[in-house]
Amino acid sequence: MYTNILTTQNQGVTTITINRPSKLNALNKETIQELHAAFRVADLDAETKVIIITGTGEKAFVAGADISEFADFSVAEGGSLAAKGQEILFDFVANLSTPVIAAVNGFALGGGLELAMAAHFRIASDNAKMGLPEVSLGVIPGYGGTQRLPQLVGKGRAMEMIMTAGMIDAQQALQYGLVNHVTAQEELIPLAEKLAGKIMRNSSVAISAAIKSINDGYVDGVNGYTTEIEQFGNCFGTEDFKEGTTAFLEKRKADFPGK
Ligand code: COA
Repeated sequence: MYTNILTTQNQGVTTITINRPSKLNALNKETIQELHAAFRVADLDAETKVIIITGTGEKAFVAGADISEFADFSVAEGGSLAAKGQEILFDFVANLSTPVIAAVNGFALGGGLELAMAAHFRIASDNAKMGLPEVSLGVIPGYGGTQRLPQLVGKGRAMEMIMTAGMIDAQQALQYGLVNHVTAQEELIPLAEKLAGKIMRNSSVAISAAIKSINDGYVDGVNGYTTEIEQFGNCFGTEDFKEGTTAFLEKRKADFPGK
């Protein structure tokens, strides 16, 4: 069905694997479109409670946007490349109501790190290397990197990473708070699945409300506290809230209907 990605669905988890190993999983236009479609399908799938995004092989998560595709672009084409990519993939993923975990299994550079940063949180294998090397190509990050990197690691660290075009290793990324956990390569997907399992025990409706409230705190002109109040109130009208509170009072485990 897809040329550049693989998808599997197992026990509530959809795993999307970018599969262009000969190009270190670089994001060409077709891959970005396929990722949009796969994320959309997974988000709409009632069986999918968590989405894991990773790259094929042990070398790269994604080594960036496909440089060969945009090397001869004009000013207008460059602008629309960034706008379209942000709309259909990077902002799209960040605003999904289904939790997205990025399992960074190797190089996450440029658009690759931007994709990982669009996910709701990140874990990495101990061989992972992360960076935004765009200024070494005469361009800047265009898929949200100048915004999301400072949000995650702080302005000074983001400035240094972007200006030097350097890479940080998994331990440094952990120390910066860019990734939440670091593990051996073979433990990466099992750890992502373990975290997904913990997420899945909770109310998916409440989780969606939490994602929206957290994200709104980073939207210009939107008050995240106001969103939180609205979303908090809305939870009281859900079946999940009735089940969660009833189960607690009855001293049993909640069985959330997800409504
Ligand atoms: N766009 C297009 N092709 C890419 C790519 C990218 N971002 N990153 C890697 N590739 C391709 C290489 O051109 C090469 O293809 P080829 O075999 O047809 O020549 C293949 O993937 C393997 O990469 P290679 O550079 O040979 O591997 P390496 O182990 O020597 O180096 C990297 C790995 C990640 C350090 C190096 O590939 C790199 O610097 N990539 C670009 C990173 C970047 O600047 N990304 C930001 C883009 S905005």
